[in-house]
Amino acid sequence: MSQPVSIAVVGSGYVGLVAAACFAEIGHRVICVDNDETKVKVLREGGVPIHEDYLPELLNRHRENKVEFTSDLRSATQRSQVIFIAVGTPQSKTGSADLSYVDAVASEIARSIDDYKVIVEKSTVPVYTNEWIRRVIERNGVPKELFDIASNPEFLREGTAVVDFLHTDRIVIGAESERAGSLLSTIYEPLTSGAYYRLPQAVPGTCDEKCPPPLLLTSTKAAELIKHASNAFLAMKISFINVVGNICEAVGADVEQVSRGMGMDSRIGPKFLRAGIGYGGSCFPKDVAAFRYVAEQLGVDFSLLKEVEEINEEQKKRFFLKVRSALWTFGGKRIGVLGLSFKGGTDDIRDSPALDIVEQLLREGSNVIAYDPAASERAKEVIPPSRHMSYVDDPYAAAEDADALLILSDWQEFGELDLEKLHYTLRYPIVIDGRNLYDPLQMVERGFTYLSVGRSASHQTRDAALGQRLP
Ligand code: UDX
Ligand code: UDX
Repeated sequence: MSQPVSIAVVGSGYVGLVAAACFAEIGHRVICVDNDETKVKVLREGGVPIHEDYLPELLNRHRENKVEFTSDLRSATQRSQVIFIAVGTPQSKTGSADLSYVDAVASEIARSIDDYKVIVEKSTVPVYTNEWIRRVIERNGVPKELFDIASNPEFLREGTAVVDFLHTDRIVIGAESERAGSLLSTIYEPLTSGAYYRLPQAVPGTCDEKCPPPLLLTSTKAAELIKHASNAFLAMKISFINVVGNICEAVGADVEQVSRGMGMDSRIGPKFLRAGIGYGGSCFPKDVAAFRYVAEQLGVDFSLLKEVEEINEEQKKRFFLKVRSALWTFGGKRIGVLGLSFKGGTDDIRDSPALDIVEQLLREGSNVIAYDPAASERAKEVIPPSRHMSYVDDPYAAAEDADALLILSDWQEFGELDLEKLHYTLRYPIVIDGRNLYDPLQMVERGFTYLSVGRSASHQTRDAALGQRLP
């Protein structure tokens, strides 16, 4: 593979830690920097603070020789050619991205520069952030020729982050100088040349030697915009299908059929057309808000994004009304909940629609028994266990004697339940599925009252469900 590059990644969160492990996997030497000493200690001792497929394997593979962990940003900067900034960019009160962590990290990097460095924005940031970073570094007295700023947005999804990184649809590099663009292209060369996919231990995925990911070189501003625009577009797709789903419910059609038909059009594509309880997570909500704020500041009317946000909020409320329509009252009801994370495959609960729904159930006086394969510990920090809220270790324990079972995250195992066992475990066989994991007809045949999203409730008639069945 190509010449190894010495890299520092600042921020060992869902984005930074995965990027660091993957850079090591494609042959580079990586220093992971985090100002959270506890996290650094856990990582040094072989722990992995987040749930992410393949991440423990990659960190184990490279911990001894290619990856190290530190809180010393100064020394990491001095020992690296390229420094990726992957710290959080949370939403501020105005809706804009709070860039104070990026600012603080940029200043500290500036004070440590003693040789040419490329400083790369990996976190999702608004357009013009690269200009601000440049100013911060120049203000700290660093001569122009000693650094370049580049933007290399990350498109990975939590839960499948490692595979998404190594088998990405595209690599976007925004750089103004040829030197920076070429150094960053060298880092990704093992992927873009296809060399990585020839290795026997390569993580499997959609790319291979003959079909490596393309690399797109752009201006830094374009790269910043590509990331915000992509996330906002995907969120828009979800809100769009959610409204279409509401129309389906009103007319008795099945949104799964509609999204399948729409997705067959290659101009639309089948992905991100799953109706549900609305999008959540650490990216879509804050990035849609931040992109809208950017447009507003620039005097551009992007009220379309406001609509996207409002539809998303409405979707959670609609789901709650659906639960009410099945249960009538909430006080003292025992409700089993499957899924607390913002989607399946991750322990991340940031902006999780599932947690919003659980909180609402508790406010209405229900008792909630929740199961999540990975997110319970984090959820307990937000909703501590109590007389009304308990956490259990398997899905059937959540369903035990419950008045209804709610499916709120799309973990694979929630779609593979033993329906016979579920039926006799529940007090009433009512399943309210916010992720459309089951076929309504199958659920009627198994004796359930089954409510899902964008499809008729299946306690109506078997014929209604039959009429909706996918061919
Ligand atoms: C973050 C942003 O939220 C996202 O917009 C961006 O695209 C990538 O970075 P994530 O990795 O999920 O995403 O954030 P998080 O898990 O919070 O990790 C950030 C890490 O940075 C934490 O470990 C934190 O301790 C660390 N950090 C934060 C620093 O090392 N220095 C700081 O000054 C601030
Ligand atoms: C997203 C982007 O996909 C990724 O490219 C970017 O780097 C970070 O933000 P992530 O937040 O990890 O990734 O999860 P994603 O799989 O995109 O799901 C986001 C939310 O949308 C989840 O709550 C999910 O359940 C929901 N969703 C997704 C739907 O409701 N329907 C869909 O069809 C797809």
